[in-house]
Amino acid sequence: MTADLTCSFLHLQLTNPLVLASGILGTSASLLERCARSGAGAVTAKSCGPEPRVGHLNPVAIDWGDGVINAIGLTNPGADEEVPLLREAKQRLSALGVPVFASIFAPTTAEFARVAAIISHAQPDLIEVNISCPNVGDEFGTPFAGSPQSATEVTAAVKAATDIPISVKLAPNVPNIARIAQAVVDAGADAITAVNTMPGMLIDAHAARAVLSNHVGGVSGPALKPVALRCVAEIARAVDVPIIGTGGVTNGEDAAEMIMAGASLVGVGTAVWYRGVEVFSDITTELAAFMAAEGYATIDSMRRLAL
Ligand SMILES: Cc1cc2nc3c(=O)[nH]c(=O)nc-3n(C[C@H](O)[C@H](O)[C@H](O)COP(=O)(O)O)c2cc1C
Repeated sequence: MTADLTCSFLHLQLTNPLVLASGILGTSASLLERCARSGAGAVTAKSCGPEPRVGHLNPVAIDWGDGVINAIGLTNPGADEEVPLLREAKQRLSALGVPVFASIFAPTTAEFARVAAIISHAQPDLIEVNISCPNVGDEFGTPFAGSPQSATEVTAAVKAATDIPISVKLAPNVPNIARIAQAVVDAGADAITAVNTMPGMLIDAHAARAVLSNHVGGVSGPALKPVALRCVAEIARAVDVPIIGTGGVTNGEDAAEMIMAGASLVGVGTAVWYRGVEVFSDITTELAAFMAAEGYATIDSMRRLAL
């Protein structure tokens, strides 16, 4: 049996469920095109905010063996500069039939709406609303993903500012992620991306100091996978919108697990670090082989099986 990896997501048809996660290679149209040519079903740009940001001082990311911890600090060129980047990406990737997702963040609800309106000029296929970056608390305070109330306010404001479908990106470190998911869906979210990185810290015992300049950062990669699977499953039980399941997916079997937890699409971030940009075609091949061996003809036939 040959497995069929095509899938539909909102109004879109994808050749496979793998999506480049935000913040990984999504800083130029040519890098996004590279991921698409390497087999990504869709790509997400790096989050952009209202103004240009330099981000944190080095060191900002490290692989410690079981995953990666980063505190890049939302380095980005600002929404006005992001529009031509997204336009170019759309142009290059529409020829390949690969959708382009924008990603936005902001320090206030009003600024979220303003950034969404600006970015909409580029007509991305989806706007991911990053309310869950754990690495800018000193400047921005607790992420909006931390409470149903603030998550609702941002979602409603962004929804009112754009006609483009939105996916709200949630944080894993909340007591009840299903409640936050329900709140953003009630406020108009078309989809949910789960999850962002998990706050963590690495210490160099010999130097007796934190490794990252920001002291704390977000954990991603294999260490995050069980947390992400749990979050996706809890969200899938609570709401009906499609989920972009993200966190620790490194191979085809991980992708199958994410779909069995209820994901419609599967985000791939840190695995690009481990396996290179060919990771998309590699995971696609592994997923197809897994499905053929286990007797799954379609992505839909695997979805929610583990719930
Ligand atoms: C270096 C790095 C930068 C990231 N930057 C962003 C970002 O700008 N916006 C965002 O929503 N998520 C960002 N993330 C989070 C990823 O999109 C993803 O949610 C997370 O890493 C979990 O997936 P993974 O284990 O496949 O990497 C970043 C992650 C890493 C490792």
